[in-house]
Amino acid sequence: MSEQQPETIQQVLEKNIGALLLAIAMVVSVGGIVEIVPLFYLKTTFEDQVYPEYDELSDVRPYSALELAGRDIYQREGCYLCHSQMVRPFRDEKDRYGHYSLAVESKYDHPFQWGSKRTGPDLARVGGKYSDEWHRQHLIDPRSLVPESVMPRYPWLLNAKIDGQEVAKRVKAMAVLGVPYSLEQMQQAATSVADKTEMDALIAYLQVLGTMVKFEPGREYRD
Ligand code: HEC
Repeated sequence: MSEQQPETIQQVLEKNIGALLLAIAMVVSVGGIVEIVPLFYLKTTFEDQVYPEYDELSDVRPYSALELAGRDIYQREGCYLCHSQMVRPFRDEKDRYGHYSLAVESKYDHPFQWGSKRTGPDLARVGGKYSDEWHRQHLIDPRSLVPESVMPRYPWLLNAKIDGQEVAKRVKAMAVLGVPYSLEQMQQAATSVADKTEMDALIAYLQVLGTMVKFEPGREYRD
């Protein structure tokens, strides 16, 4: 009788589907980590670090407490399920929405809202496109302004008050994630949103989208 050889790793994996799947996941995740992790450390991830000559790129600032509160409402209400926030670098997109999105524009977004679902239009550059009053009316009842709209109504935002203490905690959480809020901004976060409604916050957020970098007409950023 021939002597029993110990099984090699390959033989174990070939006979055990669970172990094989685990080994595949490990190998694939190494590839993922090698690609993703450096982005958190490389300066070249954001255009303002690569091209200091584009001064305007350094105008990107953290959201104010009210805007941040609005962003949370945007996420809570699932606006991202119908709206993306990323203008792709294609002719038709640029003609419709303006300059394509730059990485630097979402550098303080945790998590970013790029998305890919567009039941409604992209919102990356919606700031300043309409008045606050338009947004208020549109959010209360989209069909009163755009009769063919399939966007839901959000009338309750008008009466829901913002909880200042809660917003202050969220500003601090962003600071932990590396968003450069000053001590003053953190201390004043709660008072700065006093008496504001969720509608005010959401509109403040929509109005700042895409406005931090002042894009000169015709200018193309290298990427
Ligand atoms: C079921 C999909 C859907 C959801 C959810 C949705 N929207 Fe919309 N949205 C649309 C559609 C479709 C339009 C285009 C028609 C219109 O203007 O109402 C639109 C238009 C808009 C516009 C005008 C954009 C422009 O450039 O004209 C804004 C601003 C907007 N939505 C904000 C929001 C916000 C904020 C939320 C979450 C509170 C939200 N939407 C949720 C479908 C949706």
